[in-house]
Amino acid sequence: MENKTHLVDEITGHRRMRRNRKADWTRRLVQENRLTVDDLIWPIFLIPGTGILEPIPAMPGVNRMTVDKAVEAAKEAADLGIPALATFPNIEMALRDETGSNSLEKNNLINLASAAIKKAVPNIGVITDVALDPFTSHGHDGILRGNEIVNDETVDQVAQAAVYQADAGSDIIAPSEMMDGRIGAIRQALDAAGHQNVGIMSYATKFSSAFYGPYREAISTGGLLKGDKKTYYIDPANGTEAVRDAALDVEEGADMLMVKPGLPYLDVCWRLKEAFGLPTFAYQVSGEYAMIKAAAANGWIDGDKVMLETLLAFKRAGCDGILTYFAMDVARQLAKK
Ligand code: PBG
Repeated sequence: MENKTHLVDEITGHRRMRRNRKADWTRRLVQENRLTVDDLIWPIFLIPGTGILEPIPAMPGVNRMTVDKAVEAAKEAADLGIPALATFPNIEMALRDETGSNSLEKNNLINLASAAIKKAVPNIGVITDVALDPFTSHGHDGILRGNEIVNDETVDQVAQAAVYQADAGSDIIAPSEMMDGRIGAIRQALDAAGHQNVGIMSYATKFSSAFYGPYREAISTGGLLKGDKKTYYIDPANGTEAVRDAALDVEEGADMLMVKPGLPYLDVCWRLKEAFGLPTFAYQVSGEYAMIKAAAANGWIDGDKVMLETLLAFKRAGCDGILTYFAMDVARQLAKK
């Protein structure tokens, strides 16, 4: 019989990677990671008033919305199967001050939204941030004393704010302000108030990043921010420090971890999942969203395909889910399949 062995068979020792890629059915069969609607957390922006949807120029397709609109949005999201929302308030400038005191107002915008959403759509999870930046007149995440964002006083305040958020119906407290000791303090405060079932998703590794620009427009802190957040966020150069920071949050009682921003920090996602095995989430932040939207709007990339590829990349990097402004788009696309 004629020997049909090729040179390549000899070179590869008869291994051919392409055999598993030859048809759609083989590719589906060997696909390692899949994105599903269960992986999505949808961040939304809140404004006071009623009946208003307000576009955010740097985030095409994303609106700020009043609480009634947020309730409608929550219903739509729940109908599509999205497990949870993350809410961010854009409050009136007149309510912002040096200490972010509105964060301690029980009926502030974020708490009104949680209460309304949980009442109308009890089966969607509500995740709330306790950082002070939406509430401060300087746009920092903590209390500013002189030139310093003071740690311990901020921790006291965010722990108290967390209790009010839980009282209002928040299911998961997500502290993003990167103060030392905040996870333990929030856990103690929640438990003391009888909120044993309220979880904590730590923004464990939040980097001092330039990718947050459009978000600061969305909550109107961009023009306020004095200086930068380098004294409390992690240096983008430091992966090992990020793992140490997450380790403290795990010891202090975090139920879930988050890496933020997402795509530029996939190595950190992988390291945290490997090191701790906790549910791990990536926040595909506003700048990541804006870049994809801008390139797609110019016809330079296929926006839908890039969106899905980036989200799948998070799954491959070990993430259990993703906070993404694309959540509704993705959920609709996945529902069509
Ligand atoms: C601050 C906060 C930030 C984001 C959410 N909460 C970052 C910042 O302004 O420093 C960013 C979210 C995004 O860019 O999508 N606590």
